[in-house]
Order: sequence, then C-alpha cells, then structure tokens
Amino acid sequence: MELISTTRRLIEKVSALRYDQKTVGLVPTMGYLHEGHRSLLLRSVAENDITIMTLFVNPTQFGANEDLSTYPRDLERDLELARHAGVDIVFAPDNDQMYPDGSATWVEVDSPITTVLCGASRPGHFRGVTTIVTKLFGLVMPRRAYFGEKDFQQLAIIRRMTADLFLPIEIIGCPIVRESDGLAMSSRNSYLNPIQRRKGLYLSRAIAHAQELVRQGERNAHALRTALVDILPDDPEMRIDYIECVDTLTLQPLETLTCSCRLILAVYVDTTRLIDNAPLTIPTTETKE
Ligand code: PAJ
Repeated sequence: MELISTTRRLIEKVSALRYDQKTVGLVPTMGYLHEGHRSLLLRSVAENDITIMTLFVNPTQFGANEDLSTYPRDLERDLELARHAGVDIVFAPDNDQMYPDGSATWVEVDSPITTVLCGASRPGHFRGVTTIVTKLFGLVMPRRAYFGEKDFQQLAIIRRMTADLFLPIEIIGCPIVRESDGLAMSSRNSYLNPIQRRKGLYLSRAIAHAQELVRQGERNAHALRTALVDILPDDPEMRIDYIECVDTLTLQPLETLTCSCRLILAVYVDTTRLIDNAPLTIPTTETKE
C-alpha cells in the first residue's frame, strides 16, 4: 500500500494506472475509520483492480462553531485498517494541497435537496462536501466511488452532482453498518461517554418504533413524528434537530407516507450531533393518496 500526500504524486500514479487500463474504485473519508468505512473499502476492493482511499478532514464542510479542531484523528490506526482491507493507495493531503493559494472554485448543487434536513441545520456544509468530492473525482477519475447510506442526504446530493456534471463515475451507495446494539457507526461516536452513548440509542430505537407503527398501519407523517418525539427521554442533554419522513429521491418531507419513504433524523446528545435513517416499508400494493 502506498501513502501519497501530494496531488502531484497522485496524478502521476493515477495516469500510470490509466495507461495500464486498471479500474479504480475511490473511497473518500475523513479518517478515524470504523467498520462502516471498512465495508466501503471491502466493496471497492472486491469490485475494482485498484482501490484508492482518501483521508482528509475537509475544513470547508465544517461550520464556524462545529468540531473541525476536535475531529478525531489517528493516521497510524487508519493506515493499518486500510492495509488489512486491501487498499492500494491512501491519499492523505494537507489543506494546502487541496486548497492551494488562489483556489477559488466552489461546486454547489442548487436544489431543494441541499436546503432541507442537514442543509438547513448546517449552512454551507454540502457546498464544502460537493467541492471536495469534485476535486477528488478530478484527481482520481475513478470508475466507481463508494459512499455510505449513513449520510443519506450526502449520497443523494453526490448522485445529483455526478449526473449534472456528466461525470463518468458510478456512485455506489452502501448500507449503514451498526454496532450490535443498533447505534449507527460514526467517527463522532468517540465524543460520547458511556452514559451519552446509551442515550444515542434513541435514534435506532426511534427507527424501530416508527417501523413498527407503520407495520400497524400508521400512514400520517405528522402522527408518526409526534409518536417519536413522545418517546424522547426527558433529558436536558438531548435535543432533536430534525425528524422527518421524506421522499427517498427528492428528500422533501411527506405528509402521507408513500412506498418510497425514508425516516431520517438528527439528534444532539449534549454537543454531539448524531444522524441516522432507514426506509419505512409500505406495501407497493397500497394505492397512493
Ligand atoms: P466520513 O464521515 O469519514 O465518511 C466517509 C464515508 O463513510 C461516507 O460515505 C459515509 O457515509 C460512510 N460511512 C460513515 N459511517 C458509516 C456507517 N456506519 N455505515 C456505512 N457507511 C458509513 O462523509 C464524509 O466522511 C465526508 O463528508 C466526505 C464524503 C469524505 C467528504 O469530505
């Protein structure tokens, strides 16, 4: 496995791979890897000749009051995990490599899919994500790129951007990997102490509760949301950012659940913001209202 830290070396390496007609899979990450990241890496390794993982805590996707300076980092451990997963190249640049002096181009998906949910709570976040992902796509020009459904909105926005820019890259969405008790894996889980971690189980429990209510026949998004707010523990440390039933493709909130519906939520445990989502399965035989 080769560790590359400059765009210049990466471009050299990628043009040699292209000359050899290798298929390249790209897995962008911000590091502090866990089983969720590993599932993306393993899928890319299985489907491509070469897997390139990028490891870059992208400053432009963090808001002024967010956790850029405290974001967890452990390069040695990440390199070990990547090596074991079969990664061929790790690209770990510093800020000056990705945003050199004079860098002035932003990529922004101007659509209602970017302004709802996390887009509403984190202004500018998705502009930072789409800008860095476009830069990484430009450097690597992979055949396939892998993203987790954990960040469901991010995945939808990257699909939109890739289609709009006619980029010849297949975007592969990978299922959410969870801890055995249901907590969706996240680098940010490391911020939680054991008590807070237990509180974090609210998100997966809320999903299970919603799925059960839907199974029992609930089709009203407002009633479903109210039921989930009602089971939030009465705890000053916990605060709902949003809970929405949205259309799987447009991410716009629904009033009545349809057969293409996703529950998506963001909840603070103290200062740590946790997100999760899952499909709400409604029989396709049901007629839409
Ligand atoms: P990061 O949070 O490090 O996540 C990297 C990739 O791993 C993303 O595609 C994310 O959806 C996926 N992932 C995270 N937790 C997961 C889980 N529990 N199960 C499955 N996949 C999971 O997302 C980013 O970094 C950044 O925004 C990035 C795309 C790298 C741009 O900076």
